[in-house]
Amino acid sequence: MVKITFQQVAGQKPEKEKDGDKAEILIPCQHEELVLPLRSKRSPLSGLCCLTFGLVVFMSALVLASIYVYRYYFIPQQDPEDNLFHCRVLYEDSIYAPLRGRQELEENVGIYLKDNYEQISVPVPHFGGSDPADIIHDFHRGLTAYHDIALDKCYVIELNTTIVMPPRNLWELLINVKRGTYLPQTYLIHEEMVVTGRVRNMRQLGAFIYRLCKGKETYRLKRRGSHRRIDKREARNCHSIRHFENTFVVETAICEEA
Ligand SMILES: *[C@@H]1O[C@H](CO)[C@@H](O)[C@H](O)[C@H]1NC(C)=O
Repeated sequence: MVKITFQQVAGQKPEKEKDGDKAEILIPCQHEELVLPLRSKRSPLSGLCCLTFGLVVFMSALVLASIYVYRYYFIPQQDPEDNLFHCRVLYEDSIYAPLRGRQELEENVGIYLKDNYEQISVPVPHFGGSDPADIIHDFHRGLTAYHDIALDKCYVIELNTTIVMPPRNLWELLINVKRGTYLPQTYLIHEEMVVTGRVRNMRQLGAFIYRLCKGKETYRLKRRGSHRRIDKREARNCHSIRHFENTFVVETAICEEA
């Protein structure tokens, strides 16, 4: 309403620009509304300005969106939930139990790229024969530790990099199947370890394994060659843990020499 009144005033005295200036001073909020009709005379330039400004805003928004997407999807350390996976896999044990058909294994996997280690928690299995466990693969120290929860004992051995995928690769594998829940169906391999002696100095195992095994009886393991597997496993005292940190499932049998 006020604007219309002013334009009428301007129309009455078009030669007096000073009147317009006064009105602008009195009612500052009208300033832009008044100036706009004047600017419309040089619309090609202002149009270009508007377009450039709009483009700049749009590009800034695009850059910000890209940064957000990059941080959210490619830098998992930013968001702890991106490091934790609940995994399920179907597998067959074609060597020891070919008639049993498909079995299922589930576990929780935590991948810590910055500290270069993986933590795996295997719950009590649906069918017996394997112990629940917490496992740490410390790539910085080159060690693997199994905490057998049923026995409440810890076992430490050199990390075997042909069985355990490095954290970055495992993370990429799991992030790709995260939405599908199940990993591709796979097979089981067996390995057998034998206890060699007690670990006295726990600190030498590194901070993460130390935290896992602190206050528990901890033993060193050595790998037993596959040719010895003909021995009756039942004769010795063996416990096995089934786990996966690669595209296949591993059964680690931990045996105490009789
Ligand atoms: C690692 O595991 C593979 C497959 O079981 C085995 O053939 C190899 O001897 C192991 N390497 C070491 C250093 O234990």
